[in-house]
Amino acid sequence: MGKIMVFDHPLIQHKVSMMRDKNTSSKEFRDLAREVAMLMAFEVTRDLPTQEVQIETPICPTTVQMLKGLDVAIIPILRAGLGFVDGMLEIIPNAKVGHVGLYRDPKTHEPVEYYCKLPEDIDKRRVIIVDPMLATGGSAVAAVDFVKRQGAKDISLMFLIAAPEGIKALTDAHPDVDIYIAAKDEKLNDHAYIVPGLGDAGDRIFGTK
Ligand code: PRP
Ligand code: URA
Repeated sequence: MGKIMVFDHPLIQHKVSMMRDKNTSSKEFRDLAREVAMLMAFEVTRDLPTQEVQIETPICPTTVQMLKGLDVAIIPILRAGLGFVDGMLEIIPNAKVGHVGLYRDPKTHEPVEYYCKLPEDIDKRRVIIVDPMLATGGSAVAAVDFVKRQGAKDISLMFLIAAPEGIKALTDAHPDVDIYIAAKDEKLNDHAYIVPGLGDAGDRIFGTK
């Protein structure tokens, strides 16, 4: 069974609250997304394995812990997931980046796949799928289906805001994945938007509406 972690860190809460505000501009929204991604990445990578390495400080030889091999793949769900990539790469600069292109059909709310490209050695990497919104869960479930079909085994997902409906759909379909969420909201509305949420994350990042 994977873990579900909802962040209660005041810095993350404050930044997410600013992103919810409809008066926050696209530029501010993008900056905040980058900052929240960096803060969340810190926790999402907590269990990366380390190994003992011998070094010499200016004072004496010593044994220290260093990462064992930072084989991480960051997979944004297009478009809105792109808003998290820069912040993640600042913390994990050697990570490879794959892309899963999905959009929600406005009538059915079902995900439609339009582009997918993953690192070749995805089966050997710690995969972190990123997307600001987990609403019905359709897009996240489809993204995990896809990366698993390509061989990924060690999978975490990172969201800004999640609805209870989406958390249930994702854990029912993929009980083995770890889920990290900055904020858990109340419910979905009739258009499958998260309430109170922050609106359409893709439009807010890219200023398309
Ligand atoms: C948004 C969001 C998620 C999806 C969540 O993307 O970024 O990918 O909706 O909804 P779900 O949990 O009900 O599937 P959208 O389809 O609006 O595409 P966009 O990122 O290109 O705007
Ligand atoms: N996608 C979004 O961008 N926002 C929502 O509230 C739900 C799906």
